[in-house]
Amino acid sequence: MDQPTQATSEGRFKGRVALITGAARGIGFGVASRLAREGASIAIVDLDAEAAGQAASRLPLVGEARAIGVGADVTDATSVETVVMQTQEMLGGLHVLMNNAGVTRDNLLFKMTEDDWDVVMRVHLRGHFLMSRSAQKYMVAQGYGKIVNVSSVSALGARGQANYSAAKMAIQGLTRTLAIELSPRGVNVNAVAPGFIVSDMTDATAVRLGMAPDEFRKLCAEGTPVRRVGYPEDVAAAVSFLASDEASFVTGQTLYIDGGESLPK
Ligand code: NAI
Repeated sequence: MDQPTQATSEGRFKGRVALITGAARGIGFGVASRLAREGASIAIVDLDAEAAGQAASRLPLVGEARAIGVGADVTDATSVETVVMQTQEMLGGLHVLMNNAGVTRDNLLFKMTEDDWDVVMRVHLRGHFLMSRSAQKYMVAQGYGKIVNVSSVSALGARGQANYSAAKMAIQGLTRTLAIELSPRGVNVNAVAPGFIVSDMTDATAVRLGMAPDEFRKLCAEGTPVRRVGYPEDVAAAVSFLASDEASFVTGQTLYIDGGESLPK
């Protein structure tokens, strides 16, 4: 099972500051590492301040770039305002926002609790809304910004994920709408929709289904046209493009990074 290569565009994000939510691990950390390698300063925002700080200290920073790790819950409006301000003040700007923080509370509809529904809606939808609203103030003022949202192949429908699927499809609508509102002010807004990406989240799904993570990955790879599972680096490659100036004519789009999983069978 081939892992993706890690070719980078040296210096592409030199002088840029990227804030990535839920980046203490998984996809977010993979994206943070990629943008750091390409010269960006990074703010890692996650629930646990210590985990965020440790992740920030592991980033492959280049030149004068810096990183901070901040503890914040993306569903809390006051914390969101604070981390966006801190990032701006401590790292000297805010150019890229990736709304990556996420959770799953999978259950078939008849077993899904109101809490399962509300938690998923809050973290994904309210989180995207609050972070984007806060970041756009700085981005619009400077006439420059890139927002990358995180949808999922599950947006297209996924058994046991009524809450998650609804939230992830809503993120695509949010992305299009924010693109209409913010692109005239220099802020491009796009989304990525990953398929199966190896992370704690997919390992937890394996356990929930009563499978070993390796067995689950093999099964998912077999059902994917490219015959492998994805890795955070696969998502990072697409995000680094969408967050770069090479994508300045791309806005309001959702790019599926799924090895063809969303194609008709
Ligand atoms: P993960 O579970 O490894 O990482 C998610 C991170 O978000 C964790 O560090 C967690 O602490 C943080 N987080 C959760 N709630 C938060 C909150 N309220 N405030 C701040 N941080 C919070 O998950 P993974 O796989 O890296 O997922 C990242 C994103 O990608 C999520 O939005 C997920 O829905 C999405 N995604 C993942 C796929 C996969 O196969 N792993 C596929 C499609 C989408």
